[in-house]
Amino acid sequence: MTQANRKPFVGGNWKMNTDSAAALSLIDGVASGLKNDAVDVAVFPPFVYLREMSDKTSGSDMLVGAQDCWFESNGAFTGEISIEMLKDCNVKTVLTGHSERRHVIGESDQLVNKKTKAAIAGGMIAVLCVGEKLDQREAGQTDAINESQIKAGLDGVSQSDMSSVVIAYEPVWAIGTGKTATPEDAQDAHAKIRALIATMYDQSTADSTRIIYGGSMKPGNANELMAMPDIDGGLIGGASLVADDFLAIINAGQPQSV
Ligand code: PGA
Repeated sequence: MTQANRKPFVGGNWKMNTDSAAALSLIDGVASGLKNDAVDVAVFPPFVYLREMSDKTSGSDMLVGAQDCWFESNGAFTGEISIEMLKDCNVKTVLTGHSERRHVIGESDQLVNKKTKAAIAGGMIAVLCVGEKLDQREAGQTDAINESQIKAGLDGVSQSDMSSVVIAYEPVWAIGTGKTATPEDAQDAHAKIRALIATMYDQSTADSTRIIYGGSMKPGNANELMAMPDIDGGLIGGASLVADDFLAIINAGQPQSV
């Protein structure tokens, strides 16, 4: 199967940025520039703006997503947000295991797995983020880290549930640093992740799973990254905060046949 058989997915991870006015103007800018629905486009605003962003985009194809979730549906979990609450705000997708959650906040693989399963069970697209740190890359551990994070993150996720999973390969050293993996290095990691999915499930699951790249993707490098056969889109941080830059990256993700 070629890339053209997988619908590209481009997500904008706003992280802890924007205020209410900036979020509204950013989402307006993105919505008004979308040309077609050939790419699945998602934005991941801060929790407190999710309801407003969902209301703004209702009726459009744009997906509103959350940057995190909790895995229990309710109860004494001060400060946490459940999948049910996200659904109530019309959220359709959620990031799990983003490197800032893993390495700044300290989330374990086991917690990421619980959140991933809760998101899938709640009918969301779970965007499971994986990737190696710089010292791990320099020690030649990129593929081993991806493998262990994916195996742990997808523990107990069935083959049929895999249609609700997008994998985001985000080398930690490339996130927010301006350093991007070369298209060849990124392609190599993506191809190995796809081969891993084939061993964990089967070839057809591997062929249909979207594997997107994140880490300083910008209008200037998105075309060559997304031209790679196993790169099915991007998870964009900094550049998703500027509507024109995000739109340019979405355009780079347009399938060749469109
Ligand atoms: P960046 O962030 O594009 O700013 O590197 C990517 C991400 O963290 O998802």
